[in-house]
Amino acid sequence: MGASIKTADEIDKMRISGRLTAEVLEMIEPHVRVGVTTGELDRICHDFITGQQQAIPAPLDYNGFPRSICTSINDVVCHGIPSNTKKLKNGDIVNIDVTVIKDEYHGDSSIMVQVGNVAPHAQRLIEVTQECLYKALEIVKPGATLGDIGYIIAQHAHKNYYSVVREYCGHGIGKAFHEDPQVLHYGSQGAGMVLEPGMTFTIEPMINAGRRQTRLNQKDGWTVTTRDGRLSAQWEHTLGVTDNGCEVFTRRSNESL
Ligand code: MF3
Ligand code: CO
Ligand code: CO
Repeated sequence: MGASIKTADEIDKMRISGRLTAEVLEMIEPHVRVGVTTGELDRICHDFITGQQQAIPAPLDYNGFPRSICTSINDVVCHGIPSNTKKLKNGDIVNIDVTVIKDEYHGDSSIMVQVGNVAPHAQRLIEVTQECLYKALEIVKPGATLGDIGYIIAQHAHKNYYSVVREYCGHGIGKAFHEDPQVLHYGSQGAGMVLEPGMTFTIEPMINAGRRQTRLNQKDGWTVTTRDGRLSAQWEHTLGVTDNGCEVFTRRSNESL
């Protein structure tokens, strides 16, 4: 199945849910400090979304997910479950992934945050992963393909001697959290679905410092880690294809997109 084309009305709603998602990330970032638990970060986001924003945190109860955001630390690739006992420590890198539903439409975005003093090699992984996302956003326009997106992400990762996670990908988004198509973060130029105005999807590269292989924690059913135990980073935005490029619905104020 391909991607649905959203109406102007639906795009307006995606713009709103995207802005709310960005505002949650901007709100929570300064709370990410040495000694805070990921459970506290989850509670602050939950209260902000349901209180101030009068919106719904999409992860809560999604296929049984127990919390309102995902917090993925160091070798956790994605879907880390916030914990009331897990304190952030100096040198950690953490991905905060927020998905907000407002007026039935979803916004989905994630950022990397550095806890205290982070090693230069970890900072570099974070930077290069964000560049992967930005390079992909730059080429999104009608006529480009999903393969073009995957290709440019993998090119940039490999040039920096990193690997690209294959088991998890970006996705169409709208009334549903995860819609067609799958947006792979690797691929061949010119391959795959051709982009058209009105398509809305996420790009969310997961880039590993070591090997690309992952492992799913069988006990909690969610937490995905790198098999080799080395670091993983991820950044995510929700966007809509426009007549001549894309609009990043989850853009934060400090981003020049
Ligand atoms: N936000 C994730 C994504 O980018 C999905 C999280 S699913 C959850 O697609 F259940 F873990 F919340
Ligand atoms: Co997503
Ligand atoms: Co997400």
